[in-house]
Amino acid sequence: MRGKSLRHGLTALLTAAMATTSVATGLVQATADTDGSSRSQPLRAHATARNFLIGTAVATGPLSNEQAYRDTLNREFNTVTAENAMKWDATEPNQGQFNFSGADQIMASAQANGQTVHGHTLVWHNQTPGWVQNLDANAMRTAIRNHINTVVGRYAGRIASWDVVNEVFDDNGGMRNSFWYQRLGESYIADAFRYARAADPNAKLCINDYNVEGINNKSTAMYNLVSRLRGQGVPIDCVGIQGHLSIQYGFPNDLRQNMERFAALGVDVKITELDVRMRMPADSNKLATQATYYRNVIDACLAVPRCNQLTVWGFTDKYSWVPDTFQGEGAALPYTENYAAKPAYQSLHDALAR
Ligand code: XIL
Repeated sequence: MRGKSLRHGLTALLTAAMATTSVATGLVQATADTDGSSRSQPLRAHATARNFLIGTAVATGPLSNEQAYRDTLNREFNTVTAENAMKWDATEPNQGQFNFSGADQIMASAQANGQTVHGHTLVWHNQTPGWVQNLDANAMRTAIRNHINTVVGRYAGRIASWDVVNEVFDDNGGMRNSFWYQRLGESYIADAFRYARAADPNAKLCINDYNVEGINNKSTAMYNLVSRLRGQGVPIDCVGIQGHLSIQYGFPNDLRQNMERFAALGVDVKITELDVRMRMPADSNKLATQATYYRNVIDACLAVPRCNQLTVWGFTDKYSWVPDTFQGEGAALPYTENYAAKPAYQSLHDALAR
């Protein structure tokens, strides 16, 4: 067997994982080639060698409190996204009163570990305080401008890319009937991008959404909006495809084709929030299916030159939004709750190492 001597100090963790998890049969050991070849290196080494960003969402709790979390985070990933700490409710809970404690914590950690930062997110209908939602049109536009000026301005030059707007479409490809849309119509989208560009001319500015992996009404609406706004000179640099997938619903086989049509508009494409959930309990078959989903996503991204980033929405099942959000589902990430690499990890690794 390859990997007699395990790298990364995972031996004990794996042993613990085998003993305590019900999905042990699906686990793969972190491999280290005895010939010392590059296959044994962490994800970020392979990614960096090909000028690619491999990232994860980061939660401030375990970042503060847990060494095993920090070890895996900093060993494997060369870019990070704040899972919650840069959202409006965290950064401006009351009008004009900003709180950057969590965001600064993530920035400091990223800087210390040579990771770029993807900012998430400026204008979204969730996790935005009530005071914003109740403003009239003029006051809301002013609040967006002030929020973006302050948040983007604070990190100007230190955040590589921002999800400027998030989830602006409904599930059929219409504009989401959010409080933003109700008060401001579609204009808030162009305004947000212009404010962000003014606050940091060097950050890449993205529009981000879910259920836009394949070619469908929603991704076509995204395509049309990006095309139209760029035609008007609105500074949109990238499209973020979240990638919250489930093995129950089948793989979006036209993912690559979809990314190619976005790339043809002249924008970068990023997989911004990948996870692949399953009905619990997990078993080795489901984990193997999950691994094919991860492989298909990274293969598609690596095949499209303008797809320059793949970020997973957390890396360990210990801290995943999935069980809290999708009842009865879980095990969506590349590592178990005990930080053992799953077959999904191997998919990412092998694609990047190829
Ligand atoms: C989720 C976080 O993971 C949770 O911790 C939080 O309670 C809710 O938001 N799309 C997004 C992310 O753009 O910001 C969401 O993150 C997941 C769906």
